[in-house]
Amino acid sequence: MNNHAQPTTLVIFGASGDLTQRKLIPALFSLYKKELISAETRIVGFARRPWDHAQFRAVLLDGMRQFAPKLLDAAVWETFAENIFYSQGDLGTPADYDHLQALLAQLEGKPTNRLYYLATGPEYFAPIIQQLGVRRMDEEDPAHWCHMVIEKPFGHDLASALELNREVQAVFREEQVYRIDHYLGKETVQNLLTFRFANTIFEPLWNRNYVDHVQITNAETVDVGHRAGYYEKSGVVRDMFQNHLLQLVSLTAMEPPATFNAKALRDETVKVLHAISPVQLRDTVWGQYRKYRDAEGVALGSRTPTFIAIKLFVENWRWQGVPFYVRSGKALAERTTEITLQFKQVPHLLFPDNTSLNPNRLSICIQPDEGIHLTFETKIPGGGMRSKSVDMDFHYDDIGEHTLPDAYERLLLDALKGDASLFTRSDGIERAWQLVDPLLQAWARGEGPSLAFYESGTWGPTEAEQLLARDGHKWMLGCGDG
Ligand code: BG6
Repeated sequence: MNNHAQPTTLVIFGASGDLTQRKLIPALFSLYKKELISAETRIVGFARRPWDHAQFRAVLLDGMRQFAPKLLDAAVWETFAENIFYSQGDLGTPADYDHLQALLAQLEGKPTNRLYYLATGPEYFAPIIQQLGVRRMDEEDPAHWCHMVIEKPFGHDLASALELNREVQAVFREEQVYRIDHYLGKETVQNLLTFRFANTIFEPLWNRNYVDHVQITNAETVDVGHRAGYYEKSGVVRDMFQNHLLQLVSLTAMEPPATFNAKALRDETVKVLHAISPVQLRDTVWGQYRKYRDAEGVALGSRTPTFIAIKLFVENWRWQGVPFYVRSGKALAERTTEITLQFKQVPHLLFPDNTSLNPNRLSICIQPDEGIHLTFETKIPGGGMRSKSVDMDFHYDDIGEHTLPDAYERLLLDALKGDASLFTRSDGIERAWQLVDPLLQAWARGEGPSLAFYESGTWGPTEAEQLLARDGHKWMLGCGDG
């Protein structure tokens, strides 16, 4: 059912929210400009604000000016906006779904492909799905598909994720459901697959025989800002680790799939999640930047972590004994997301001039300076055999790609085309929760290490350094110009 070029109606629930303006509309507009989606793609926003079609269009245009000014093209916008509509409604009021259904029928006139986008708070996911189900608005026919994209967070623990999956699957078939993890839409994350499986020279080394350990750093300079209300209940483990970071671990550690399709790919990433052994509390560091408690909406004495560092193991033939150190935090010194494989030390120090050598390192730079860096030893010119580490690097800029498409562009297009490869399957979500649930529960009971505070603009608590120092390692940053 890949007839995405046919007219399609995209219904956005929660259309007055930030995500619609910041991400969805710029992504759709960009796809429209590139003629990657049908010119007849209709967008119908559903939200509570008392707007009409014209007001909604004006709000979206404002959003484009603010968030995607470079993309905006007034003439193209004019035709694009002709296909934007608005249905005022309350997510909890059944009659408002009747109005929506009537508007869709009026606009479409005949069966049409549909994509529902749930960009609301998670508490509305189940009610929306039920209302769609009651009205059989999930139905497909041989000529038309109906897909649904669900934003994160998908549950706040294993039990709620299982429940939500039950509610989703009571109405939609799994093949109709696209659970978004925007990290999978990033070019550089997908490039991990190309790098590993479109080259012969790296994959033979990609295992316990050559890799000493793996580090994944996700650092943000921003703090929680005005999202403290949400963040206070979520914290970094739910906000970043359970989803984005475990996806990065999976793609780094997965076996090559036999074919490049959604099932094969997701089978392999889920296998990695199953191979991760339960994380020990002593292998975790929970941090909070000092000013966090001053933010509005944060409880006095809050223990919500804004930083986490975890050592975990993927217990399988390929990775047995290789630690994966993963850290993520807000209000840190630099914005960077990178994956580094540190290779083993040479087995024998041949050159007496060097008392030690730096092991080789390969860094996959997810953002912001997208690229790949490989460090190796080279001889310092002159007498003797002293050596130093040098960096062989590739930046996306080098191939003229200064601006990579936003993750949402790719993901929306895939959801329209019916390609679920870069979306999370129900079993993957459930397994990820299964891994973090015991940690969150222990943390809530006050077990494990105490909360480690850190100053904004640093690399997090010193305990995170100690986590690696215990094993004789240091956190490394392998991206940027360095
Ligand atoms: C979101 C989190 O999923 O990812 C945010 O809710 C976080 O807290 C964001 O800032 C990071 O995304 P990116 O693409 O900027 O790394």
